[in-house]
Amino acid sequence: MRGEGRTRAYSEEALSEIRARTDIVEVVSGYVQLKQSGNTYKGLCPFHTEKTPSFTVSREKQLFYCFGCGAGGDVFSFVMKIENMGFRDAARMLAERAGVALVEDESPQAKAVREKRRRLYDCMETACRYYQSVFANSKEAQRARSYVKQRGLSEDTVKRFRLGYAPNAWDSTLLALQSKGFSHEELVSAGLIISSKSGKGYYDRFRGRVMFPITDVSGKVIGFGGRVLDGSEPKYLNSPETQLFLKGRTVYGLAVAKDSIRRKSKAVIVEGYTDAIMCHQFGFTNVVATLGTALTKEQAETVSRYASEVIIAYDADSAGEAATLRGMDILQQVGASVKVAVLPVGEDPDSILRKHGREAWAKVLEDAKPLIDYKLYLIVSRTDIFKLDERVRAAKEAARVLAGVESDIERMEYAEKAARMLNVSYDAMLGDINRLAKRSTSRRARSQGREAQDRFEVRRYTSFKDDIAKSNEVSRVLKAERLLLRLMAENKRVFEMAREKLNLDELSDERHIALARAIQASQDVHNESAGSGSSASERIMELIDDREALEYAAGILIGEEQKLPDDLTKAADDCIKVILKYKLAVRIRQIEKELASLSDTGEMQKSRELLQELGYLKKRISEELEPFRGTI
Ligand code: CTP
Ligand code: MN
Repeated sequence: MRGEGRTRAYSEEALSEIRARTDIVEVVSGYVQLKQSGNTYKGLCPFHTEKTPSFTVSREKQLFYCFGCGAGGDVFSFVMKIENMGFRDAARMLAERAGVALVEDESPQAKAVREKRRRLYDCMETACRYYQSVFANSKEAQRARSYVKQRGLSEDTVKRFRLGYAPNAWDSTLLALQSKGFSHEELVSAGLIISSKSGKGYYDRFRGRVMFPITDVSGKVIGFGGRVLDGSEPKYLNSPETQLFLKGRTVYGLAVAKDSIRRKSKAVIVEGYTDAIMCHQFGFTNVVATLGTALTKEQAETVSRYASEVIIAYDADSAGEAATLRGMDILQQVGASVKVAVLPVGEDPDSILRKHGREAWAKVLEDAKPLIDYKLYLIVSRTDIFKLDERVRAAKEAARVLAGVESDIERMEYAEKAARMLNVSYDAMLGDINRLAKRSTSRRARSQGREAQDRFEVRRYTSFKDDIAKSNEVSRVLKAERLLLRLMAENKRVFEMAREKLNLDELSDERHIALARAIQASQDVHNESAGSGSSASERIMELIDDREALEYAAGILIGEEQKLPDDLTKAADDCIKVILKYKLAVRIRQIEKELASLSDTGEMQKSRELLQELGYLKKRISEELEPFRGTI
């Protein structure tokens, strides 16, 4: 998903050479205005919108971290994120900058595959230019030019979205691309020509159509949508799936829209090519389109990587409605906050903009409803309020929807709203909802998948998760663990102390465990080759393979309270106590539960053992841990 990990296609030597010759502060300064503040540099985060700088870069540690949005990592992560590149491309870019020659350790097969892809990209780009030039220059394209003009698309828009025209002939594209050196085989795998049924010849896939190039996020052409000029069918013909063009992963217009989406932290998804294009023409630059299919999980993930809020603005027909509901659920699953813009029946964004203008469309977006409101709205709009049985059916349906709302407060608010809209009793409504909610929570508790998504998942203590999560205890322990890890990275003595008193493999978060292991490993490496020139945190970061763990680790190593405590050992000791106490408390709760569940008879031995352990744990807490007045 996020980041492609660190594919080690380049030699370690080359990578450390890049690291040695690159200063993260200089690289970041190319994108962000940084101001020095103590040991670190600060600026406005390029990954989310903010007014006061929480984006922090440490020269000494060669790390960045944003305390606002949690983006962080080393210089490779930064380039990957800001340029939206994979690790390999980021490494290549930084290598070039630093003047390091990158030798790729690549197998001949891997090389051949890559070369083939490169040719395919070339082929698509060449085709795009060909269609553009036909559109601009050929006499035949006069019809296409007037069509585009009549639809209100400006010259500027035509250029920005690289619209083109495919001549109405069987072999124009074929001949044009052949003359540029592309083989039949290549043109077939690019989806531009089709081999005839008889198997003897080939013909152009796109004939007499206005061409809408489809690109990947970096703007490379990977496919086309071609629209007829008259009313014939199919209205749109799209490229087939190819090695480059995977429909379920592609979002139309993202390359053009991504900066704006990031700036606004908000994306709008529409259905049609022309809808997206018209939005851009009217200055709504954070708009993308799905490719005439329902939104897929990959598309949702791609979009939500740029923005936390997503508005779906599909046509108001019933196909649009169903697609909208599915799309919303998918977006919510990937963690985006979702709203739905309700369009007037029979209109699409393109027609609204052209008929009613900018303001009207802005209003539609402004009025976008949150998921639950939209679902309620749909239920009510399908109900004949004057019929009792209809109202009862609708109320039941609404209860099912509202049972999924996690927060008690919100659930009550919505219950009131639904009761009002359907003219049923509030108490009955809430009663139904809560009954259903209870059932679904217990179902949820049983399913593991959900728990794994919990941000601050506390490992192994899932049975107590509910009572624990309610207190501040967890956040206090996590905070203690984070500070302790930072101190461990700074100071070898602290590290030894922590290792002695705690089992570092039992920290409460997988990422903490990963970082602890990297610190340990970096100590070992350091002991072998004393003083390799890189800082401790650089060595630690090199040992973390997973990009997401890396991001999180950067935040810990940079540290929100920039200044370290004066007495490192004392601070570390406090952290350790908080963690230990928590572990003991968890065990105590576990024992108490077990004791309660043991029957009075027959299990005396077991009870006695548990009681003994309980006494011991409580004593430990009061003797070793209670007197302390912590700093955390
Ligand atoms: N679509 C498609 N194939 C079709 C019809 C539609 O791929 N035969 C996709 C296109 O991506 C299109 C989107 O579905 O943009 C929405 O379809 P529709 O609402 O019919 O198209 P519009 O974008 O409104 O097209 P236009 O305004 O050009 O008529
Ligand atoms: Mn339309």
